[in-house]
Amino acid sequence: MAATGALFLAILYAVNAQTGTERPVPTLSPQINAAPSLTPTIYDAQAPDPQKCPGYTASNVHNSTDGFNAELTIAGSHCQAFGNDIDDLLLEVQYQTQDRLNVKIYPRYIGDNNRTQYLLSSDIVTEPEGDGHTTEQTSRLKFEWTNDPTFQFRVLRAETGEELFSTYGHVIVYEDQFLELATDMVDGYNVYGLAENIHDFHLGNNHTQTFYAVDAGNTVDGNVYGTFPFYQETRYHEGKETTSHGVYARNAHGQEWLLRDGNITYRTLGGSFDLYFLSGQDESGSSSALETIRQFQVDCVGTPAMQQFWTFGFHQTRWGYENISVMRDIAKGYKDANIPLEALWNDIDIYDLYKDFTSDNNTFPAAGMQQWISELHQANQYYVPIIDSNIYAPNLENESDAYGPWERGAELGIFIRDPTTGDPYYGNNWPGFSSWADWLLPESQDWWTNEILSWFKDVPFDGIWIDLSEASSFCVGSCGNGRLNENPVHPPFLLPNDPGNADFRYPEGFNISNATEAASASAASASQASMLSTTTLIPVATTTTQGRTEPTPGVRNLNFPPYVINHVQAGHSLLKSAIAPNATHNDPSNTTEYELHNVYGLQISNATYHALLSVFPGRRPFTVGRSTFAGSGRTTSHWGGDNTSTWGSMFLSISQALTFMMSGIPMFGADTCGFAGNTDYDLCSRWMELSAFFPFYRNHNVKATISQEAYIWSSVAEASRRVMAVRYSLLNYMYTLFYHAHTKGDAVMRALAWEFPQDRSLKGTYTQFLLGPSLLVTPVLIPNAKTVRGVFPGIGEGTRWYDWYTLKEVQAKPQENVTLEAPLEHINVHVRGGSILPLQQPGYTTTETRNGSYSLLVALDSHQTASGSLYLDDGYSLVPEQSKLVQFKYADGVLSTHINGTYKSSPPLANVTLAGVPGHLTGLSLTISGQPCEVGEVAVDPGDGVLRISGLEEFTPEGAWEGEMVMKLSFD
Ligand code: NOJ
Repeated sequence: MAATGALFLAILYAVNAQTGTERPVPTLSPQINAAPSLTPTIYDAQAPDPQKCPGYTASNVHNSTDGFNAELTIAGSHCQAFGNDIDDLLLEVQYQTQDRLNVKIYPRYIGDNNRTQYLLSSDIVTEPEGDGHTTEQTSRLKFEWTNDPTFQFRVLRAETGEELFSTYGHVIVYEDQFLELATDMVDGYNVYGLAENIHDFHLGNNHTQTFYAVDAGNTVDGNVYGTFPFYQETRYHEGKETTSHGVYARNAHGQEWLLRDGNITYRTLGGSFDLYFLSGQDESGSSSALETIRQFQVDCVGTPAMQQFWTFGFHQTRWGYENISVMRDIAKGYKDANIPLEALWNDIDIYDLYKDFTSDNNTFPAAGMQQWISELHQANQYYVPIIDSNIYAPNLENESDAYGPWERGAELGIFIRDPTTGDPYYGNNWPGFSSWADWLLPESQDWWTNEILSWFKDVPFDGIWIDLSEASSFCVGSCGNGRLNENPVHPPFLLPNDPGNADFRYPEGFNISNATEAASASAASASQASMLSTTTLIPVATTTTQGRTEPTPGVRNLNFPPYVINHVQAGHSLLKSAIAPNATHNDPSNTTEYELHNVYGLQISNATYHALLSVFPGRRPFTVGRSTFAGSGRTTSHWGGDNTSTWGSMFLSISQALTFMMSGIPMFGADTCGFAGNTDYDLCSRWMELSAFFPFYRNHNVKATISQEAYIWSSVAEASRRVMAVRYSLLNYMYTLFYHAHTKGDAVMRALAWEFPQDRSLKGTYTQFLLGPSLLVTPVLIPNAKTVRGVFPGIGEGTRWYDWYTLKEVQAKPQENVTLEAPLEHINVHVRGGSILPLQQPGYTTTETRNGSYSLLVALDSHQTASGSLYLDDGYSLVPEQSKLVQFKYADGVLSTHINGTYKSSPPLANVTLAGVPGHLTGLSLTISGQPCEVGEVAVDPGDGVLRISGLEEFTPEGAWEGEMVMKLSFD
């Protein structure tokens, strides 16, 4: 929920009202989600200063071929800052690869009798290992340490001595519930990443990034759904090459990164220090942001899953599609408006009282679903339903409430447990009191696979949307204990379709462009508020205030750790709106949610990925998950859930997307046109345009707001048709970018600063971005605009840019903010000189597009050269039997293809268009597979730098890439 939570909890609760014939609204008192209010330690003036702790002394150093280890012993008396000090630690330093150095610090004595620290299992999150041959001498990174006055270390570049990380001047703090380590930073440092955050792309030096997976929408500057403790730093040097490196801290506990002037402090609520320093250097020795991002993916967490081709089409969903007939209308609405629609999704509306894997027989009966989904499939369209992470715990006193998925799970003993009773933990979610699977048990995977397999028989889906995987619970603690006989209970707040809960918010600027509607919305909002105030009300939950807990020897306080992270939930308690930290898993160590909370989303996505491999053997599973962790990209993708229909939300989605590219989850997209609140034609047109250049392109909306499908307004429809024609013609470019992401960790969307690292002025830019290396996107991000301003990086240093639509070369000065025409239905896209883009004739679906003829767009750079590539396969196999990689090159007036692989794509090559040619065409010849072709009158040469060569189909009747092509051109 909780755009849902934040949004609806703020509204007073009506009793007595009914949701149709279903359940009283709300059944549960809001008090059930009330937790004591805490002061986050970063705002607590009385909190101890951990830097007064004694630190450690290193001794007993043992060298090995790839590094060394040593003992660390506490260098004074315990300080008990936010936990119990651990006296004896081990330090391990390993030169893992030429470009990666690992520093581990963990308790020396870990055993059954001393299990205060949970060290993140490599079964859950990959633990990078050494390559077996790098040594201190061959590493590009160097580790230095001192015991003066206590143990401190620093990491440098071996060749230049550039200091990348240094704890010198700071003590290391290691307590059972609190670890701290600080590094000095250069003045005005440039740090990026630490996803998931909704914040400026350049994180700045006055920001605290908290990590604790949370079910809360649009948490600007706070913790969000995902945890990626990885940052990339860029340094600009006067007159020298810009450098870049990365730091990854492999720890899943609740944690905070304090970005301050001159230093960064890293604090976690437990576990170990497991730090990976990445040189960011490529083969040539130069470092870059893009190489750092590659190293994080390839070497640390794994590269992203290759997605099925169809998933790059346009998706439509909404919470509130009420029945199959509505779904048919939506598909028809798109078709009638000729706006491509690839996939339709269902939210929780499909289920009987929101219980996973059930069917609401009145609205989405299984037989009807099968018929309707088969119609979609016949039209080459796809279907994706939601699965919530909670499993409804039925009222066992009521036979008609029987619920197989929970009963089978309980039988297997696979649910997370309430430590006080040993019974399954009973939290609350949409359907009522619920339990959650414990993914540490192998039986959980089998159970999940079986549930999904058997549901697939009723609902033959094509992918799965995993929601609420933080994991979210709408009450504090195991609130259903002894109360299952009340099930199905309505959550302790109004749902968006409950009476009195319409959302009347509109985007900024709406009062100017739609003054009459704005006035009527504001009147309706006032009337709703007054109606609520005359109804019997339950007050919003009140909370008591709790002071900071003191560390107690021998005790770990899991629910109220002494260090209070700045958790975004009201009152900051970890208990609120999530499974409680002390909920217990079923492994022999009884690991707790305190330790595993942040990986729940990763685990359920992995489990779903593996379940889909059983449903579709050999096919790439398509899952979209809400909570993610470092490494999630190997199995899942992500949507920036629960944003709002505001211009700011749309703008911040770009920064969020860029951080997900860094994090190894390129299949990212936001709820286009906005989830909570009402959109308008202006915002929705601009957002449909912007999201068309994000890999995952989906329009999603909450209930109780106006509809926002792309065909609702004529302007949005026109904007969507135009931009989708661009996107669909570029599907192969996008797919090839994914191939490079999957095989070598290349970023899909790119910040301008990554592609133009020498230009310091771009370090914070995210009003524009690139898709791959070749396309510059300059979206409109403010209301009622007719123009947009943007820069053309590299101009003045040889980079050429061409308007996508006209292929006219941009004339601009270096760093000039150029004003571009941006009528409502138009998004500015520019092609970078030096690129060859393989395009395909766009169709209504991706299937149709894959059958469309090819063309090549050759955008020449200042040396009259260009290059590009195209990856092809069947578009769905996990391990394709056949694939093909086509390399394109243009140099010295010769356009050539080099083909590797056997996959056959049948459409011919119809056109070749060159932008930036030096003069009039004087000669043209073509050979395919060494055979000369009679090209005749195929070229149009108006002499404006653009040369269009068309009518080439006849030369490649077997398929555009079946034979290598050499096209020779000469100009006067
Ligand atoms: C929360 C999700 O973020 C949102 O996308 C979904 O519509 C609601 N849950 C209802 O399932």
